[in-house]
Amino acid sequence: MLDVERVRKDFPLLERQVHGRRLVYLDSAATSQKPQSVLDAMTRYYETTNANVHRGVHALAEEATEAYESARNTVARFVCADPRGVVFTKNATEAFNLLAYSWARTRLGEGDILLSTQMEHHANLVPWQLVQPETGFDLRYVPMTAGGLLDLDEFDAVVATGRVKLFTVTAMSNVVGTINPVRELAAKVRAANRDAVVVVDGAQSVPHLGTDMVDLDADFLCFSGHKMLGPTGIGVLAGRPDLLEAMPPFLGGGEMISNVTLEGTTYNEIPYKFEAGTPPIAEAVGLAAAVDYLSGLGMDAVRAHEVELLQTCIPALEAVEGVTVHGPTDPARRGAAVSFAIEGLHPHDIGTIMDREGVAVRAGHHCAKPLVRTLGSAATTRASFYLYNTTDEIQALVDAIEATKNFFKV
Ligand SMILES: Cc1ncc(COP(=O)(O)O)c(C=O)c1O
Repeated sequence: MLDVERVRKDFPLLERQVHGRRLVYLDSAATSQKPQSVLDAMTRYYETTNANVHRGVHALAEEATEAYESARNTVARFVCADPRGVVFTKNATEAFNLLAYSWARTRLGEGDILLSTQMEHHANLVPWQLVQPETGFDLRYVPMTAGGLLDLDEFDAVVATGRVKLFTVTAMSNVVGTINPVRELAAKVRAANRDAVVVVDGAQSVPHLGTDMVDLDADFLCFSGHKMLGPTGIGVLAGRPDLLEAMPPFLGGGEMISNVTLEGTTYNEIPYKFEAGTPPIAEAVGLAAAVDYLSGLGMDAVRAHEVELLQTCIPALEAVEGVTVHGPTDPARRGAAVSFAIEGLHPHDIGTIMDREGVAVRAGHHCAKPLVRTLGSAATTRASFYLYNTTDEIQALVDAIEATKNFFKV
């Protein structure tokens, strides 16, 4: 079991106050706080090792390269990926753009279906929409049911056409928390078309659930460092090396080339072919420290802690008059991003008053407008938990909701 009080001591920011009150940080689905070990690893890198990577002949350049490549191996192990298929990007969003521009734009055409879902973050919607007009593929979406699950009948119907060439789905919703049965969905897609490619959005799942790309049956997995205790400025595209090898580059410049003449360019091997320019070196070092921190606790313990929080949180929220929790209520089927509505109140007003109580929640469309629309609203209030949150903080959330209701007299 996770010793949450000990964990909290590793996160300096959690000690601060907001509006004169102890901070209750319930916005980790947007970005997580960072343990001291991540901050130290990045500072140490800048204090002792900083140099540009690859091609350098001096000691520092070699050490920086070693730190960067060792981070790649650490991240690869964490999700059971081949390190050659681990591309460092700016964030999950850039990983999706890479796939859209390099894979979908060159592999899909008229008659092909790219199947996404109504549950996706804009990062897993807009990049496909950007390249669709050029290629003419059919962009379809699996609808979401009122209970916050994917509509599997609709999914089956589209898959049965045998035309789905790319299926992309989030492993865990950032709004309603749903954990999708990625493995089963991938198996169905492949049974109908054995050349289909499966892309998984792991931005919310990788920080919270033990992840094995092979077990998920994913060809590509996209996630961000900053939601899993790491720094901003680094994300990951983990993919099958054979697919990456066959794909054209996304961005051009230094690092990604093998040879350049004024007439043309040949490209570096993977993953470097997809890492144009100076990469996020200190950020990779920080991300590796974050992975080490999570691995040290154990992802099973992280998940168990969050399930325990959900077991308290969902009934506590549902017991408040006028509050509706969106998405699955069974903790086994969901992660710790909990969206809710308070009858008669706008999420932005709720978020503002809760902030005055020291409780940081997010209000808005959470970059998932099509999903939020299915909830019959333009916005929700979202409390999202992580390994450093406590059951006391759930009480603080409930108290802040009551304070908000009192303030607006609803
Ligand atoms: C499910 C999901 N996918 C993708 C993203 C995009 O992540 P980033 O903004 O770090 O690129 C997010 C961020 O909130 C997310 O929650």
